Amino acid sequence: MKVAIIGQGYVGLTISVFASKENTVIGFDNSEKLVVELNSGKSHIEGVSSEALSLAIKNGNYHATTSGQDISDADIIVIAVPTPLNKDRKPDLSYIEAACLTIATYVKKRVLIINESTSFPGTIRNFIKPLIEKLSKNNFEHLYAISPERVDPGRVDWDQKNTPRLYAGLTSEASKMTRDFYTSFCDNLIEVSSPEVAEAAKLFENTFRQVNIALVNEFAQISNALGISVHEILDAANTKPYGFMKFNPSAGVGGHCIPVDPTYLAYVASKKGIPATFIERANEVNLEMPKYVVNRVEGENSGSLTGKRVQVIGVAYKPNVADTRETPAELLIKELKLRGAKVTWHDDVVGDWQGEKSSALGGSQIAIVVTLHDSIDKRLVLESAPYVFDTTGKVVGAKGL
Ligand SMILES: NC(=O)c1ccc[n+]([C@@H]2O[C@H](COP(=O)([O-])OP(=O)(O)OC[C@H]3O[C@@H](n4cnc5c(N)ncnc54)[C@H](O)[C@@H]3O)[C@@H](O)[C@H]2O)c1
Repeated sequence: MKVAIIGQGYVGLTISVFASKENTVIGFDNSEKLVVELNSGKSHIEGVSSEALSLAIKNGNYHATTSGQDISDADIIVIAVPTPLNKDRKPDLSYIEAACLTIATYVKKRVLIINESTSFPGTIRNFIKPLIEKLSKNNFEHLYAISPERVDPGRVDWDQKNTPRLYAGLTSEASKMTRDFYTSFCDNLIEVSSPEVAEAAKLFENTFRQVNIALVNEFAQISNALGISVHEILDAANTKPYGFMKFNPSAGVGGHCIPVDPTYLAYVASKKGIPATFIERANEVNLEMPKYVVNRVEGENSGSLTGKRVQVIGVAYKPNVADTRETPAELLIKELKLRGAKVTWHDDVVGDWQGEKSSALGGSQIAIVVTLHDSIDKRLVLESAPYVFDTTGKVVGAKGL
């Protein structure tokens, strides 16, 4: 099969490299710089090694492009573009729209179109299909399917091969072709009765995480007020062999999924007149965490941060990735600056962020750990400042949640 994958980011590149083992993959992206980098065999994401990418290129099974012409004779098109929130924190489908325009303009035969971008139920049936049909000058009766992506960047135990994958086509022919495609690199495919079930399942998976993270973040505040260690309580509760799943408190949530996807669910709920109160409150609790952390740090440092040198350690949204999208470190730094602190940050995995380079570890009066990469020495973190506040629960001897 010739497979065109639109969007070569965390999702698209990961799929591209797996799919290139048994298919010819064209990685379409509108970033010229990224396409040049990929064609030189350089991967820009964790979880896809440059060696694996180079091998796919060497075998003639992968090339990246910005040219729509290159996807014109593909058999399968996978959409893997961002689905963020707009400035009013509502679903922004403009990237999907642009991908539909590319498909409608360049595809020259009947193809299978699979959406892997996360969106609300009904996106493939009521948005992507009609839009491609409207924009297309041809009357191809394309096949449409959904297979939501579950990739967890940086994770090595669960990957494309062993993570079960949901899928559903708009027709049985689309479902069958979708199954055949993913079977080439995924061991466990689960067909559901409609694309809407798959789309909603993806949103609910991430909402489940968002709400539970908010719950444990609220619980961390209650535990602190009660003078009991939240980590010890969680470890104790986690000895129950059933009916409990441990989530850890943190400075908040980040990335492209947990702070965003639940709002897609809340959006469709509101369209149906159903209040998504858990989702909304969970968003609030998670977004308030950086402020709570700063309040704690300020309270434990004679009630003022004015003029104090504070270093934030770890600005990626989670360990071992360079991804800073929606990172709680951003809100935390903003709050520290509002209170007059002189803020630096250290994160060797991220390196460059918001036009600044990672500073050397240490040299501040206060250190706040937001994310702890495996590569960082916890002992050096503890020694990096006279006062260290750890939001991860991993730096023994530090103050923390
Ligand atoms: N990152 C994750 O862990 C993850 C996990 C599951 C699902 N998802 C979902 O997958 C989708 C993609 O997320 P991602 O993390 O891979 O995003 P990303 O930002 O890493 O990559 C998106 C890529 O698409 C490109 N792009 C944007 N518009 C384009 C267009 N019109 N044509 C061609 N290329 C275009 C960008 O240049 C970028 O390289 C989102 O819907 C996201 O919610 C992400």
